[in-house]
Amino acid sequence: MCSVVGYVGKRSCRSFILEGLRRLEYRGYDSAGFACLCPRDSRLLYAKAVGRLENLEKKLKKEPIDGYVGIGHTRWSTHGAVTEHNAHPHFDCNKTISIVHNGIIENCYALKRQLEEAGHVFFSATDTEVIAHQLEVLLLSHVTLKKAIIDLVNKLEGAYAFLVLMENYPDCIVLVRKRSPLCIGIGDDELFIASDPLAFAGNSSKVCFLPDESFAIVKADQIELYDFKGHALPIKVQELTIDWVNQERKGHEHFMLKEIYEQKEVIHATVDFLRQISNEVWQYMGITQETAQSLKSFNMIGCGTSYHAASIGKFFFEKITKIPAYVHLASEFRYMPFFPSENSVYLAVSQSGETADTLEAMRMLQTHHVPTVALTNVASSTMVREADGFLLTQAGYEIAVVSTKAFSAQLTVLYWLAHRLALEKGLINQQQMHMAQEDLLVVAQLLESCMENYRMDITHSVAKEYAQSQNFIFLGRHESYPFAQEAALKLKETAYRYALCYSAGELKHGPLALIDVKTPVFVFSSQDPLIYQKLLGNVQEVKVRGGHVVAFTFEHQKELQLLADRVFIIPDVKPLLGTIAMTGLMQLLVYEIAKELGRPIDKPRNLAKSVTVE
Ligand code: F6R
Repeated sequence: MCSVVGYVGKRSCRSFILEGLRRLEYRGYDSAGFACLCPRDSRLLYAKAVGRLENLEKKLKKEPIDGYVGIGHTRWSTHGAVTEHNAHPHFDCNKTISIVHNGIIENCYALKRQLEEAGHVFFSATDTEVIAHQLEVLLLSHVTLKKAIIDLVNKLEGAYAFLVLMENYPDCIVLVRKRSPLCIGIGDDELFIASDPLAFAGNSSKVCFLPDESFAIVKADQIELYDFKGHALPIKVQELTIDWVNQERKGHEHFMLKEIYEQKEVIHATVDFLRQISNEVWQYMGITQETAQSLKSFNMIGCGTSYHAASIGKFFFEKITKIPAYVHLASEFRYMPFFPSENSVYLAVSQSGETADTLEAMRMLQTHHVPTVALTNVASSTMVREADGFLLTQAGYEIAVVSTKAFSAQLTVLYWLAHRLALEKGLINQQQMHMAQEDLLVVAQLLESCMENYRMDITHSVAKEYAQSQNFIFLGRHESYPFAQEAALKLKETAYRYALCYSAGELKHGPLALIDVKTPVFVFSSQDPLIYQKLLGNVQEVKVRGGHVVAFTFEHQKELQLLADRVFIIPDVKPLLGTIAMTGLMQLLVYEIAKELGRPIDKPRNLAKSVTVE
């Protein structure tokens, strides 16, 4: 998704802005731009380039513009093709106002029509340009910048975070935030601005997150913060604890591989965190102990990988806590009729804590006064700030666009939480709770040793073989069905291969027609004896039709091992923890296939890390 970065202070802004944009590159983008005010005459100078940030850097080397106040942007196109005209910053008619923007202005077409009728000429197909022209009009009719901004936000519909740089206000930047994150890093007579604090981590240890529906007019040594009605707001400064150095690839060829290998550590860190907060967990989640004891159901919402983690988590809650658990795709849930479940809690599962669909679903739930809890990896995220309570995965920054370590960390929290709830309800005792935590540490070790066992085979032969296949089928049952969906998603997004996923029981209702020798069928087993037997039957159905079966199977499951054409054997593990044990191996195989195919693994085409638009 788009990223915005800004700087005002005593240093040259260009290097900070480019470095900030580079750090946020992992979020995905297709073009980039930079604008600053010339230190001599405050003229607005800018450069834009399509493609990678290097292209912008090359341009800036040829025309070395710089200043003490500046803004930058990486664009992930929504309105208008990927062209230099559509790259940010965007301008008013006179090119004295420039804007960089994340989000979507929903009423842009109506506003554009009015502005064009009034004689404004547009240079791009973007929604962002409307903001610049609209501000141009308002600055003519208002005596103060503050009043013009209040009027501007009243006219704009949608979700946005944008920065404004103007020739007529040469020492300041305006920041505007509605439902899209924006923060200020506070330095010594200098301010760093970004949509994600990672952009300025290390430059500043103090951060102010703009509240929702607020704007700020900032100078190097001054921050004025207002709500959309113009009332002054207090500036809440927090300590910034993230550091950039730890986000390097540490010798791995890709961030994805580094993150796959970090999973054992991540599970340990997550279990440690959960152990520490165990006594206050309900406080963290924003519910009382009584509410926890009386929960009659558990609801989860999420998108993509987080949805798959929640769908596996459903089995944890239902089997361990003995209450029904419901999982909803956030993008669907938001627009469905809502029937509040009595005595329930809604967990918004999201690595980034910023995904627009999940966030909006959470906001919709809040209008019905049902308890919302954010389960996210980013402590400073909007979901953490807005939910009634939160739980944090301890995965550390996930830089690769595709999610890997956040997934196993989410599964860890969900498994732990199901046990913690069971303990609260008197279904298990302290000793069993302790064992569940130990089992998570055991499975963390297995996740890693499974990868080690097959690493050589995968890199030297298996990945090469499957990289030849154009289409894949993925099968699972019960908890291994959402796991198979996650595997298929990983393959689609990193290797760009077609990967159909079915619950294995559905095969005979249609997909069997697709079985042929050229289409590998990946099967993920379950440790539940009955489910395993059923799955075995499904694999037979594939085999008798000439299919090629690749099975992820547990050690004792000899029949499946004999039946499959290729097997990955997972040591037997506590029931329900099988999917975590398989996670690293599955991800490693997908990674190596994508590498074999020469894909841009950390930044797959068309994708963004955190999807902050609908
Ligand atoms: C897949 C992937 C996406 C995200 C989805 C939700 O590898 O990364 O499917 O899982 O966009 O993102 P979060 O978890 O940040 O809400």
